[in-house]
Amino acid sequence: MRILFSISIFVSLAFGACHNAQQTTEEQSSDTTKPQPMQIPDAKAFQQTIDGKPSNLYVLKNSNIVAAITNYGARVVSLLVPDKNGKMTDVVVGFDNVNDYTQGSDTYFGAIVGRYGNRIAKGKFELDGKEYTLPTNNGPNSLHGGDTGFSRKVWDAQQLNDSTLQLTYVSKDGEEGYPGTLTAKVTYTVMGNQGLKIDYHATTDKKTVVNLTNHSYFNLNGEGSGTINNHLMMINADKFTPVDSTLIPTGNLESVANTPLDFRSPTAIGARINDTSSVQLKYGKGYDHNFVINPTNDSLTKAAEVMGDQSGIVMDVYTDQPGMQFYGGNFMDGLHTIKGGKKDNYRTAFCLETQHYPDSPNHPDFPSTTLSPGEVYKTTTIYEFSVKQ
Ligand code: GAL
Repeated sequence: MRILFSISIFVSLAFGACHNAQQTTEEQSSDTTKPQPMQIPDAKAFQQTIDGKPSNLYVLKNSNIVAAITNYGARVVSLLVPDKNGKMTDVVVGFDNVNDYTQGSDTYFGAIVGRYGNRIAKGKFELDGKEYTLPTNNGPNSLHGGDTGFSRKVWDAQQLNDSTLQLTYVSKDGEEGYPGTLTAKVTYTVMGNQGLKIDYHATTDKKTVVNLTNHSYFNLNGEGSGTINNHLMMINADKFTPVDSTLIPTGNLESVANTPLDFRSPTAIGARINDTSSVQLKYGKGYDHNFVINPTNDSLTKAAEVMGDQSGIVMDVYTDQPGMQFYGGNFMDGLHTIKGGKKDNYRTAFCLETQHYPDSPNHPDFPSTTLSPGEVYKTTTIYEFSVKQ
């Protein structure tokens, strides 16, 4: 059963302006009959000039959901939804200032990754007989667009209204080795039914490859609240793309049946995580795999349903993409201080990255990621929230 919470009075008190996130420092009260103060970072901590462009923090809201998004990497910084007691809960991992995103190694917290999200084997692919070489930033492979992918660019931002933010990034011909000038637009919309919709749009002036996705790290019990191992996960996939030891698909599609990757009925994320007989879990250091979403005739297919065991918060993922990478936070190392002074400890968040299969440019049998001039790359994913008591 879905229960929508009416918190409009409080939200309008908590947020005066669209653009300026107002910080509340009060601790959340355990008295759920009172309006709950919500914590989102101070917009000032995001206002900088990076590579000659202004970065900022934008707030999207309706009476059921609040999202704070920065145009640095088009990243979701905070996402607040009510838990089973009506307490507004931030379900994504993020930093409370832009410097923590710009400095150090990239965790891709909340980012749009591109031009090609996920891996391309040995940083090489061919288009029309010409070989292109990309930076290899993940062992022998190229990951998430290379050294300075879309997650590290300042996007042009236009807040269309209280609920919609449009972000545009023009990636020049040859940037990070990719051919063609690509104009990418990502539109974030908070929806009345407690969802965050992400619309992706791209065009190119030369044949290229594109695979955009959002890399939010979710903990449905609340950011920094501990292990995700007891979250219940359902993934609507009969098959996955098995990988080699460098996480490049072998090219086969294999059944999830009788493997720890079978999430067709809701199963605790941690239930089989230590299954040492699984070479796939060994290679992934846990879950880090692309699932082949069972196709339907609907424009958007329900790819996953996850529930926070403590909060009762349920997240449904709807997408038109053929695949979804389930990454279980295996490289989270506790070395980063995230919002509220917490640490990004091992496996305290998961990503569900809706996308095309990894390394598609080198697998002609996989759904194509090639974009030609005159074509439009257009995809949609919705993360929709509700609660179960
Ligand atoms: C995921 C990827 C992981 C890891 C992570 C970032 O998308 O599949 O292997 O690189 O991003 O730490």
